[in-house]
Amino acid sequence: MEVAEYFSKDFEWEELKAEVENDPSFRCHLLPFECSNPSSQAAAEEDSIAWKKFHIRHSSGKFFKERRYLLKEFPELVSCGECSKVLEVGCGNGSTALPILRGNEHIIVYACDCSSETLEKAEEIIDAAIVASLRHRFRTFNCDFSITGFPKWLACHTCREVFMQKPQNCLSDAKENPRTMYPLNEVGCCIGGVDFITLIFTLSAVPFQRMPTSIKECFSVIKPGGMLLFRDYGLYDMTMLRFESDQRVGFREYMRSDGTRSYFFCLDTVRDLFVGAGFIELELEYCCIKSVNRRNGKSMRRVWVHGKFQRPM
Ligand SMILES: C[S@@+](CC[C@H](N)C(=O)[O-])C[C@H]1O[C@@H](n2cnc3c(N)ncnc32)[C@H](O)[C@@H]1O
Repeated sequence: MEVAEYFSKDFEWEELKAEVENDPSFRCHLLPFECSNPSSQAAAEEDSIAWKKFHIRHSSGKFFKERRYLLKEFPELVSCGECSKVLEVGCGNGSTALPILRGNEHIIVYACDCSSETLEKAEEIIDAAIVASLRHRFRTFNCDFSITGFPKWLACHTCREVFMQKPQNCLSDAKENPRTMYPLNEVGCCIGGVDFITLIFTLSAVPFQRMPTSIKECFSVIKPGGMLLFRDYGLYDMTMLRFESDQRVGFREYMRSDGTRSYFFCLDTVRDLFVGAGFIELELEYCCIKSVNRRNGKSMRRVWVHGKFQRPM
């Protein structure tokens, strides 16, 4: 059932686009937006703070929903080689990490989030869901990748440079010490980068101005030939059209009342961002799903963007 739900195209995105763009009640969403103040460090930190507060408010884990469809969309997470490394960026409570860990018992998932509260919750949820012997395959760390980038133990400067020059000879496939959180040892400079990055409903939370550097940072820690797997809100998704005009903080960018942001992507913007950072586009499309709200019986048109990008060899 889930396969049908996530793979079928219930409507054509172009038809929705035409409808929205011809409807005067949606005009406010189409207007250009003058961004007056470039983001300061303090403003940048406010975004993380809003997410931290969000996770504290929702700490019961009630909103946790395992993304069971994920491995159908990204089967390479199952078929990849032993001990492949995945970096799940903005992991929240582990909705994406959990199906990956369940689907491939050899994979190692490094998961980061700007909120330490949600990392604790994710560990709790994953501890309860997978067998103890596999627990060491899930490793969390706290970081706001859009401000500080990723830590050096993930890919040190030397490895990042080697990726640029002689990609196939990745310096470090450092032996891992299962007892330490981060698998550095006397010989290894870092873990040698990752084979996959999952960016699932996280990029839309980053201010648009900081997206290009954030994606370049992802590019720099992914091994040559590695893949970035992307899913996020698409342009004219129902949730975008529900925002009020005073919630606009940029073109196609909105702020919820709790201070968290959401950007709505068109395919060209995604392409420009990822190809601009050096990735090759493998797959990029809208997923258009009609679903019915159980409470009021209203039909909802959801739009997501699915993308697969590869770092050249
Ligand atoms: C909508 S949730 C998605 C969670 C998860 N990827 C999933 O599949 O459900 C977005 C997550 O990104 C985190 N986040 C937002 N901005 C971030 C940033 N700049 N750096 C790291 N994490 C961030 C938030 O705390 C939140 O947990």
